[in-house]
Formats: sequence, structure tokens, C-alpha cells
Amino acid sequence: MNILGIETSCDETSVAIYNGEKLLAHSIYSQIDLNAKHGGVVPELASRDHIRRITPLIDDTLTQAKLSKKDIHGVAYTSGPGLVGALLVGAVVGRSLAWALNVPAIGVHHLEAHLLAVMLEENHPQFPFLVLLVSGGHTQIIHAKSFGNYEILGESLDDAAGEAFDKTARILNLGYPGGPALAKLAEQGDSKRFQFPRPMTNRPGLDFSFSGLKTAALNTLHDNEDNHQTHADIARAFQDAVVDTLYIKCRRAIQETGLNQLVVAGGVGANVALRAQLNKLAASLNGKVYFPRPEFCTDNAAMVAYVGYQRLMRNQTDDLAIKAVARWNLSEL
Ligand code: KG4
Ligand code: ZN
Repeated sequence: MNILGIETSCDETSVAIYNGEKLLAHSIYSQIDLNAKHGGVVPELASRDHIRRITPLIDDTLTQAKLSKKDIHGVAYTSGPGLVGALLVGAVVGRSLAWALNVPAIGVHHLEAHLLAVMLEENHPQFPFLVLLVSGGHTQIIHAKSFGNYEILGESLDDAAGEAFDKTARILNLGYPGGPALAKLAEQGDSKRFQFPRPMTNRPGLDFSFSGLKTAALNTLHDNEDNHQTHADIARAFQDAVVDTLYIKCRRAIQETGLNQLVVAGGVGANVALRAQLNKLAASLNGKVYFPRPEFCTDNAAMVAYVGYQRLMRNQTDDLAIKAVARWNLSEL
């Protein structure tokens, strides 16, 4: 059973083929160069670029897998949440392709795909487990009870962790994408020079608030000599604050739920400092932490094909409607 997955929710065009056991092919085209010119994602330009890339990418991915279209038994596409114009490209192509091939189509929830990306790894957890989902648009701690059954235990009340990385990177003139550039600069920073707050850690609960950290970065920049070392020290103070806050809330979630498997998902999951801290946390609590490889942390179609396969196995396929929704709560699944 070969499932073709399509991801176009933001600024990556990606196509993958998954056969229920392994990934047969996977292609990602990132719009990084386009976005770098504009300092971020411009939704209309992103949509137009998806249109240009998607069909050749499907052909390339089929060639990579040594398959033709008639070998595809289902088409899964990201139907939300995300930029609606960008989503529509994958949704129209995915739904139409399924119709033309007379196979089922499955509209996939982008965050469910992120939190199950780890299942593509040999080393993966068994349900139930906790997920720290840290992407550009979301920061959530989720109790994944079983396939399709997710409870959000806590989330950011303002900026997502990745968004905070990107905004702080912009303050430090690091260009786009900000997160990885800021993480790199932080390596040269002195962790003792500036101390940023650990927002919302001194009150109960698992919610987050990251918007104050960019203000801390901005104020610190104004109050100090504007040079390379100051930038690196701010990057370090910022990253330490985010990582420490995520660490404290994950420790709390593990202790409160008694679940000892933690999955880290989403783009910020590629952050090396975060990975190191969460590994320490798991070791100290006799638990286990699972990370998808960095390529499966950021947006990709492999995770979409995986969820599509699981839904198809459960006969959870769609009607002929083309599904693209900007907002869609994970707990509605
Ligand atoms: O999951 P993702 O690819 O897209 C969304 O669905 O949002 O996440 C992208 C986010 C961006 O904010 C990016 O700056 C951040 O993940 N990111 C990182 C790193 N790599 C990507 N943040 C911190 N450190 C990294 N190494
Ligand atoms: Zn994403």
C-alpha cells in the first residue's frame, strides 16, 4: 500500500511516498532563498512558489521511488492549520490526483503529522506518551493517548517558541530563517553576562509565554554596546531562557502525568541545546526522550504520508471535498 504525501502548509513544498513499513522516497523544496529576500514568509509568494514546484516534485519523488502514478493507493495532503493559500495548493493537487487515480484522499492535520513524525524512526515510543511540540506557529505539551486522541495539556498564550526565536533573531539582524542562525550565534555567547526571565515557571500549570523574551533582548541591546559579543551574549541568554523554560515545563508534565516517554516535535526540536537538556531530563527521571531526525522536525511530507497511511488503514478517508483550513484545533480530531 503506497501512500503519496504532500505538504504545502507554509514555506516548504514536500512530497513523500510511504508504504506502511518504510519511506520509499522523500523530496523537500524549501523557499528559504525567496523568504530571505523578504525577511520572512509572504503568503501570496509562498502560494505561487508551491504552484511552480509541486508537480515536478511529485514526478521526481515517484522516480526516486521507482514507481509510477498507478502504483499509488492513496494521497494524503496537509489540510491545516497553516497559510490558507499555501494549503490550497497541496489540497487541490492532492485531492485532484486522488480523484484522477480513483484512490482515497486523506486531509491531514499538520500538528498530528508533526507529533507522529517520530514514528518513522526505528527508535520510537508506544502510546501513551507526552509530546513537546515546538514549531514556528505552536508551542504545546500534548498527551498523545492513542492514534487520533490527543489532549493539549499546555500551550503558549502568545508567541510560539519558534516565533520568539525568529523575532529575536530579527532584532539581532540575523536574517531569515532566524532560529538556526540564532542558535549558531549563541554558541559564541557567554551564559553569565545576561540573565533573561523563565516566563510562567513560578506558577502552576503547563502554559507558556515567550513574547516577553524578545522585549528583554531589545532592552538589553539598547542598554549595552552594540557589538558582535553583545549580540552573541543576548542570543545565548535568549536560548538559555527558552530551553530552560521548556525543560521546567516538560519536567512538570512528566511528574504530573506519570508518563515517562517524551517526544520532541516541530522545527525548534532541531535545536541542539534543547536536545541536550531534554536528554539530561529524561536520564534524571528514568524516562526516555525521542527526537525525530532534524529533517523530520521541520516541515516535511514524510510525516503527512505516515498519518495518511494510518488513517487509510482505519478507513478514515475523505469525501470529494477539497479541505484547506487555516485554523484547526488538534483536540477536535
Ligand atoms: O515546524 P516548522 O518547520 O514549521 C512550522 O510548522 O512552524 O518550524 C519552524 C520553526 C522556525 O521558527 C525556526 O526558526 C525554528 O523552527 N527552528 C529552530 C531551529 N531550527 C528551526 N529554532 C531554534 N533552533 C534551531 N536549530
Ligand atoms: Zn510545521
